[in-house]
Amino acid sequence: MKAIRFTKYGSPDVLQLQEVEKPLPTENRILVKVHAASANPLDWHRMRGAPFLVRLSEGMFKPKNPKLGADVAGRVEAVGSDVTKFKPGDEVFGAIGVSAFSEYVCARETAFALKPANISFEDAAAVPVGALTALQCLRDAGQIQAGQSVLINGASGGVGTYAVQIAKHFGAQVTGVCSARNLEMVRSIGADHVIDYARENYTRKGGRYDIILDNIGNHSPSANRRVLAPDGRYVLAGFASMFGLIQVILLGAVISKLSRQKIGFKLSDANEADLAFLQNLLATGKIRSVIDRCYPLNETAEAIRYLETGRARGKVIITVTS
Ligand SMILES: NC(=O)c1ccc[n+]([C@@H]2O[C@H](COP(=O)([O-])OP(=O)(O)OC[C@H]3O[C@@H](n4cnc5c(N)ncnc54)[C@H](OP(=O)(O)O)[C@@H]3O)[C@@H](O)[C@H]2O)c1
Repeated sequence: MKAIRFTKYGSPDVLQLQEVEKPLPTENRILVKVHAASANPLDWHRMRGAPFLVRLSEGMFKPKNPKLGADVAGRVEAVGSDVTKFKPGDEVFGAIGVSAFSEYVCARETAFALKPANISFEDAAAVPVGALTALQCLRDAGQIQAGQSVLINGASGGVGTYAVQIAKHFGAQVTGVCSARNLEMVRSIGADHVIDYARENYTRKGGRYDIILDNIGNHSPSANRRVLAPDGRYVLAGFASMFGLIQVILLGAVISKLSRQKIGFKLSDANEADLAFLQNLLATGKIRSVIDRCYPLNETAEAIRYLETGRARGKVIITVTS
């Protein structure tokens, strides 16, 4: 089978389409013929070994694992002896860690959910990392409640487009921060208010938000506190620099102890229950994927190059088999 591999850190040029052995499902694992995968910033962080912190887990001088890609959707081809959830022929989607850019993937059955029949493989592959992050930041770290006022900074990206819709699903009033070219799209997925970041700095605009979900990290914790309700929660998902992340972790811990405001960074995790929760939102039309571009597997490097510009509107897809 064909799969993307990389053996050294660097630009998308390090990604190679190789002929590799097709995996075999054993025990609780399923073999899935991939129809589509989606790219996440996590992929290019692993590809570049940057920020440097990534190398502590991925390998100091070269990647320990040559595979890439987390989000995947496809059809089950074979199952291991202990598999109970799926059978050959089932259409599934899931977050499998690091080998999605491939014609076949093999992973634990708990990493997958059934793909709702009403959505395409591309729409399903777009979901896992972005939507799990949005869900866990809003529901777990943000403790979102109906009627609350929620601001999503970076509302037009892979995390933000799901965050706007998930916050609406929980009954919040949503303000999306994006650029002028994305204002209409962010409104179309449910934002009640939109702020063009090139014209207005949301931290200086007034207003008080119960939750700020920050996918960009371009304003300091003290600037964010200005527009956070007295018992509001600021949740950082994406950061512009290590300094920004450390500031949020350290200052956030102090502020959260000394005041009613809670400030912190949330790292998402893929789990079966949350994937099932998203499956239900997709099946009932409560959320949908916003897809910017689709690339074939042999152009995965171009897909990552595009994602790295930071300008993607929603998700970037790798179509493996149509
Ligand atoms: N914590 C976690 O577990 C976790 C999980 C997943 C992702 N992340 C992180 O979360 C961040 C967002 O991920 P993503 O998948 O949404 O990335 P993405 O799809 O690459 O985000 C691109 C979007 O960001 C917008 N954007 C760029 N600069 C902006 C600014 N100054 N203000 C508002 N919007 C701006 C862009 O809109 P314009 O082109 O209009 O500027 C574009 O639509 C990344 O840093 C990623 O590493 C964290």
